[in-house]
Amino acid sequence: MRTIDSLDVTGRRVLVRADLNVPLDGDVITDDGRIRASVPTITALADRGARVIVCAHLGRPKGKVAPEFSLAPVAARLGELLGRPVRFASDVVGDSAREIAQGLADGEVALLENLRFEPGEESKDDAEREAFAGRLAELAELYVGDGFGAVHRKHASVYDVPKRLPHAAGGLIVAEVEVLKRLTEEPARPYAVVLGGAKVSDKLGVIANLLGKVDRLVVGGGMAYTFLAAQGHEVGNSLLQKDQLDQVRGFIAEADKRGVELVLPVDVLAATEFAEDAEYEVVEATAIPSDREGLDIGPKTRELFAGKLADAATVFWNGPMGVFEFDAFAGGTRAVAEALIAADAFTVVGGGDSAAAVRKLGLPEDGFSHISTGGGASLEYLEGKTLPGLAALKD
Ligand code: 3PG
Repeated sequence: MRTIDSLDVTGRRVLVRADLNVPLDGDVITDDGRIRASVPTITALADRGARVIVCAHLGRPKGKVAPEFSLAPVAARLGELLGRPVRFASDVVGDSAREIAQGLADGEVALLENLRFEPGEESKDDAEREAFAGRLAELAELYVGDGFGAVHRKHASVYDVPKRLPHAAGGLIVAEVEVLKRLTEEPARPYAVVLGGAKVSDKLGVIANLLGKVDRLVVGGGMAYTFLAAQGHEVGNSLLQKDQLDQVRGFIAEADKRGVELVLPVDVLAATEFAEDAEYEVVEATAIPSDREGLDIGPKTRELFAGKLADAATVFWNGPMGVFEFDAFAGGTRAVAEALIAADAFTVVGGGDSAAAVRKLGLPEDGFSHISTGGGASLEYLEGKTLPGLAALKD
């Protein structure tokens, strides 16, 4: 992949595809990690006299203009973090975008409105997607791909635009790929992976691939209940994906065959309902009462999981251990995060909810070797899939 140093950007319009998909509460940004991660590349380009046109998506408005998904609050925060004004275009490829792009002076920065307001961005119809990519490409002379969190999407701004303009990978993508390579090509051992989050179905591909690579697979969060049920245990009202039971039984057998240590919860916080103030008790993971649901891993499990990470040399963690958004059920996620911080290992937090949890729980970000900005993207990389946004930058 070419880096931005290989591009002569001075005085030229550079379209930067960033991932600024941040969580919002109304128009308040609740975690600006992805905006902060995008700042170095934009700054480097602007400092070299580029006319920077940033494009990004927010949420899933599905090809329609939806004011609650406007990037306007993100433009304001980006301006604060860059320490320079950001001109905000009220459309993606319309009059406002064209006028602002043409009017930029050297070193100035603009942000276009949400790419996903345009149906062409995500279209499965190649012609429709390419037509939109053409309009986007017309705004600029060069393209920089830096939205790591979206590289697994075959979308116009990620996949088609780089085919139309001289392009390079931004610093964030370069850094993310370096880390993921270290996880996939001869990782230091023992190599432990901690997976959590609600659905085992989101992680099937990555589990299948990791069973051939890791020494320990630690499973918590909502997906652990499908593993417990696959072993024949009662899980009460806990999250359970019945249609995945056979697949999970296959994983358990495969782990055994390959000598991968599969570590599951031994106790859980079993609550009366899914609520912040629900009553709960600590129960054995093998004996969850039929009218209760597990909302976090229990104290013995926290200790068990921490012990499995303590002597690891490489740790990748994706997915919370419980409903960390509720204070009462955040302890398991905190314990795993703290175990990563304590480990003398190369530790990587894989994007999305786990990265947000680290920041929400007030844990030091520099306690980890790397916090990825890509949840789905980093998982698909570890699955061994070809990621469209990376493939497009290689050509
Ligand atoms: C993410 O949040 O993982 C990325 O921004 C991609 O968003 P998407 O899952 O809506 O495509």
